[in-house]
Amino acid sequence: MTPSTIQSAGREPEEIPRHIAIIMDGNGRWARSRGMPRHAGHQAGVRAARQIVETAGQRHVEYLTLFAFSSENWDRPNSEVNLLMNLFLEALQDEIEDLEENQVCLRFIGDLESLQPSLKDQIVAAETRTAANDGLKLVIAVAYGGRWDIVQATQRIAARVAAGEIEPREIDAALFDQTLALHGLPDPDLLIRTGGERRVSNFLLWNLAYSELLFVDVLWPDFGPAELDAALSFFASRQRRYGKTSAQADA
Ligand code: FPP
Repeated sequence: MTPSTIQSAGREPEEIPRHIAIIMDGNGRWARSRGMPRHAGHQAGVRAARQIVETAGQRHVEYLTLFAFSSENWDRPNSEVNLLMNLFLEALQDEIEDLEENQVCLRFIGDLESLQPSLKDQIVAAETRTAANDGLKLVIAVAYGGRWDIVQATQRIAARVAAGEIEPREIDAALFDQTLALHGLPDPDLLIRTGGERRVSNFLLWNLAYSELLFVDVLWPDFGPAELDAALSFFASRQRRYGKTSAQADA
């Protein structure tokens, strides 16, 4: 028996989140507590991300969305922003072969036009190269903000109204779903935030409406397979009611 079958054993399919979203927080503190520079924390964060992608696939999670860089992270010191961009570029170059071999399908969400052209080109190439893969769908949010997402969707819908393609009364939640960055994917079932803060920080504001929220104190570089399994156990213990009574949800 492989570790993945052991983990999945005894769990009903609905007890495994189809889509997990993660706010990977705590790289800086992880480095500081070891007397290391912040960039060492981010490098350790990339290693943790790699391991969680692999483990999520083994546990039969279908979609994994990682918050790598927020709209607000542009306000960090230039040196750190440059370092993060270079790290993303390197990670993409280093990992693309392995992702491809493991049938991972990559997608990026966020204001990609704001990225340096070399990174944007690599992103488009990686998406194209892995588009037909039928394994884990890995979504990386870069230069992403939940408010940016809602605003860009609103602009696109307004443009369709102005062009006479749709009437204002045809605007509904389904149309927003189709126009937001995560279009075509189910909403996250589970949001995990590492690093001890209890907030959503402008991530997937629309899509997290009914997600189970798990905040853990462990710093992102220390979040490994055991921590993911604990998160899966937490999720399996939740009853999802979507506004109904628990008796209705049981039925
Ligand atoms: C939070 O740590 C993390 C980030 C700002 C984003 C960078 C994430 C990585 C490098 C992980 C790898 C991701 C991919 C998909 C390649 P922080 O700097 O906010 O930590 P702190 O709160 O302890 O200062």
